[in-house]
Amino acid sequence: MSGSPAVPDGVDASAPRSARVWNYRLGGKDDYPVDRVLGDRILATYPEFATDARAGRAFLVRAITHLAGQEKVRGFLDAGTGLPTHHNTHEIAQAIAPESRVVYVDNDPMVLDLDRPIGLSIIGTLGHIPDLEQALGLMRTYLDALPWGSFLVFGDLMSEETSTAEAVDQWYESATLPYRSHSLAEITSFFDGLDILSPGVGPVTEWRPGDVEIGSSPDTDMYGGVAREP
Ligand SMILES: C[S@@+](CC[C@H](N)C(=O)[O-])C[C@H]1O[C@@H](n2cnc3c(N)ncnc32)[C@H](O)[C@@H]1O
Repeated sequence: MSGSPAVPDGVDASAPRSARVWNYRLGGKDDYPVDRVLGDRILATYPEFATDARAGRAFLVRAITHLAGQEKVRGFLDAGTGLPTHHNTHEIAQAIAPESRVVYVDNDPMVLDLDRPIGLSIIGTLGHIPDLEQALGLMRTYLDALPWGSFLVFGDLMSEETSTAEAVDQWYESATLPYRSHSLAEITSFFDGLDILSPGVGPVTEWRPGDVEIGSSPDTDMYGGVAREP
């Protein structure tokens, strides 16, 4: 398995995993041949896959920069973090405010003692919960656990076209976790009850575009926004 990391105890390298396929698309090294095969197969039927992961991460950089810089948020919870890669949440926040604290969660229960506003980021992750009501309920559980004035940075794959949605669903059915894309209305519904910051919910490439881009193009199905708990 040249070019791949050693397989740690308890890790199954025989079936693709979402975190590792995403890592592959982000140009990381923590993936195995089976993840690259699926990543390349997805790309063949869905070219936007080349930019979605990077667009999502560039969005994360801009959003966390805003929260740490302008909103003075010092605590961050990154749910569905994925594998460590470049531009991790702690690197972005601590470059602005070294005292920032970041908790990463990936398939782990959340247990926190919170008394100051938190920046919760969930990017490219809730599609892993195919049932919309269940995904919205999980979002509500997170938001209810956070103190007043906390922020949500949310993005996920958007598809209004059935054929694209089916393509997305198909690739992920062959991975170990299913995935579903959402309509724009569904993406927007994750922000229900929150004050959405300008410019609103849309392609993440249009969320306050700036200097930090990670090879992304304007064509992305990664949609999202940033909002504050009122
Ligand atoms: C498509 S990756 C996105 C990673 C990262 N947020 C990014 O944008 O680069 C989705 C991640 O969600 C994780 N995940 C899936 N279900 C989860 C759950 N129930 N709780 C926490 N993480 C989960 C997967 O393991 C994977 O690392």
